[in-house]
Amino acid sequence: MTTLFINIKELIQVRDKNIKKVSGAEMKELPTIKNAFLLIENDTILDFGQMTNAPKTANHIVDCQGKMILPSWCDSHTHIVYAGNREQEFVDRINGLSYEEIANRGGGILNSSKRLQELSEDELYKQSSKRLEEVIEQGTGAVEIKSGYGLSLDSELKMLRVIKRLKEHYKLPIKATFLGAHAFPAEYKDNKQAYIDLIINEMLPKVAEEQLAEFVDAFCETGYFSVEDTEKIIIAGKQYGLIPKIHVNQFTSIGGIQMCVKHNSLSVDHLEVMTLEDIKALKGSNTMPVALPSCSYFISIPYTPARELINEGLPIALASDYNPGTTPSGNMNFVVATACIKMKMTPEEAINAATINGAYAMNLSDEVGSITKGKKANFMLTKEIPSYGFIPYAFGTNLIDSVYLYGEKQ
Ligand code: NIG
Ligand code: FE
Repeated sequence: MTTLFINIKELIQVRDKNIKKVSGAEMKELPTIKNAFLLIENDTILDFGQMTNAPKTANHIVDCQGKMILPSWCDSHTHIVYAGNREQEFVDRINGLSYEEIANRGGGILNSSKRLQELSEDELYKQSSKRLEEVIEQGTGAVEIKSGYGLSLDSELKMLRVIKRLKEHYKLPIKATFLGAHAFPAEYKDNKQAYIDLIINEMLPKVAEEQLAEFVDAFCETGYFSVEDTEKIIIAGKQYGLIPKIHVNQFTSIGGIQMCVKHNSLSVDHLEVMTLEDIKALKGSNTMPVALPSCSYFISIPYTPARELINEGLPIALASDYNPGTTPSGNMNFVVATACIKMKMTPEEAINAATINGAYAMNLSDEVGSITKGKKANFMLTKEIPSYGFIPYAFGTNLIDSVYLYGEKQ
């Protein structure tokens, strides 16, 4: 089955060569073809180019007059699987409490953990699939999902099994991350080492045995997991073939980035608080810095210093961080707009960061993230828009006409 998209006003993020990521000044370049065609066969991109070279026939033809096509957003950092919501904490923050103060009162991650432990796997699947369907409609075509609200062997497995069911049911690439080290459960408050032992000796072997995760994560932060704790978890995870992808520098800079780079982590995520040494440590590494601007927006913390990173020649990926505490939104259109508005990224940089670099941050660069022959036909067709810069500009308007995943209209 072939489908031919014709008269595409502009086909965005076309890459002849299968690049893995773009860094520094390269991020300013967003290759496009005006008045283009795109040919797909079943779930794969077969060909693209100028309309004058378009094939004459196909099983199905879609006329895209006035509309643009761009690859689906690649959201490399989410916590979509969770139970209930935390709007009361949102109100508490409006009334003056900080994220830290709320967490210290037993709110925050532990609040979500309590709710998740009480919820059945089926109900958790139902709540999570609703959110996944929502982000697919908003243009996400590849997603990473973390555990981390279970914080016990059974509940972490429950979360990861829900992610597995989502993988089986939905037609988009989903990667799973084991985040047992998200917070210390209350009963381990005075014996943190015992919880780390539980993660390493009981949770990790079971996660690996059931093949429930590709990546391992930890919340490396003052008051949560120290650099030493995180390093132990990374080393243990690697023994089971899990690749590190770590929460660092959200509130404080404590040396986590240097340690993550040393262990060749696939990504370091958050990076709201960065020193010059932190930026330097990333240079020359394979580790993707991931910024989560909706989190900065929602809890009023600094934005990742994207300009400084890019000026140093580094790449940057954008992701949503969709979770009930710091980012109750998985809307990647808003992420891209906020990166432009608040982090001074250009539309070209932000689109690169939310497509090819997002794909890299989930080890999916060979499959998605650009319009390239042989890649999966995961893309979105916009409504009629004057230019692609209009996407972040009109930040509150839904500009998506339709979404295709593995060549199928959703
Ligand atoms: O990425 N910072 C750690 N984890 C989440 C928030 C967790 C929560 O508050 O539920 C984040 O922002
Ligand atoms: Fe997160």
